[in-house]
Amino acid sequence: MRYLGTNIELAVNKLKVSYTDEGPDNAPVIILIHGFPLNKSMWNKQVEVLIENYRVIAYDVRGHGSSEAGTEDFSIELFANDLLALMDELKIERATLCGLSMGGYIALNAMGNYPKRFDALILCDTSCAADTSEAKEKRLMTIESIDKNGIERYANESLKNLFAAESFVTNRESIVWVKEMITDTPVKTFSSTLIALTKRKETCDKLSRIEVPVLILVGKEDKITPPDVALLMQKSINGSQMYIIEHAGHLSNIENTYEFNNQLLNFIDSVNQQPEKYVKRDRLVTEVYHASKITQHEKLLKDINAKILRITGKIKDHYPELAKNMDEMPVKSSTEDNQEITLEHLTNYYESLNSVLNKYRQESPKIGE
Ligand code: MLT
Repeated sequence: MRYLGTNIELAVNKLKVSYTDEGPDNAPVIILIHGFPLNKSMWNKQVEVLIENYRVIAYDVRGHGSSEAGTEDFSIELFANDLLALMDELKIERATLCGLSMGGYIALNAMGNYPKRFDALILCDTSCAADTSEAKEKRLMTIESIDKNGIERYANESLKNLFAAESFVTNRESIVWVKEMITDTPVKTFSSTLIALTKRKETCDKLSRIEVPVLILVGKEDKITPPDVALLMQKSINGSQMYIIEHAGHLSNIENTYEFNNQLLNFIDSVNQQPEKYVKRDRLVTEVYHASKITQHEKLLKDINAKILRITGKIKDHYPELAKNMDEMPVKSSTEDNQEITLEHLTNYYESLNSVLNKYRQESPKIGE
């Protein structure tokens, strides 16, 4: 029997795996694989649009989110084998795979080892290369630093690499959300996964053997796996398509959901050629996380962020001499308890920029704004 909903638990190879299974029965299956150190909820806004016509599975990779870690040493190969075991358990013969970053490493490994099980591949902000010795060294230092300084500090540092600079102004609620995903990840998972990442094998040599349609998406400002890395993959995969997502860094699906979803849906629809409209089924499991349901408070945050973006853009373009006033952006993140404080900080920040700008314009008006 198929269970529908989010956070469904299933024993796969004696380990508890937590997954989402939504969308119509018998529809083509899309499997979403998250990045490190995140969990399946990073795909909430993709699940929402895909389930109209597709059966969508998003799962927590071993040790992440609510899936158990087990006792084996982590490796990308092990993660890929887990994916196949999950597909077997769910009786999914073939699927389209979509993986972001580490999810892409897993997808490429699975595609290389089990090509007959996949119809199409979507590689997001990822790479086929193995770690350089410098990158390995850095990961080992990260393990030490997490041991010494804790996850919170690691999270704050890594957010700067995960997101485009502009997302810190336009997309603050997503930054808070991703930070929660990082800090909710069990401590042991960091070291086990970082070691797995250092040991992963390159898959670039296998790219030319991929025979299914491939879409490559990458955030224009991705610092971890930048567009030139994506372009190298695109050149090696016959017939693959690539799109650079504007206004996005490494988490392009979260930072520019609109553009990402457009490209994703266009591609998946083209692979499935005008999917039939499938009949929706009632849920058997009803625990749902409505990531996109915007509360009044989130709306206020969005509005103030948009105002800040406009005024900072104006200052940069027309009054660069005032840009130093923008350095004091309040970086407090909002949690359930301090959302009001965040809103207050942002409002104060906006008002102070506005008053600096107005005062300056009165004293030295500029033409052409
Ligand atoms: C990820 O987002 O999964 C990680 O950035 C992958 C990596 O560090 O190589």
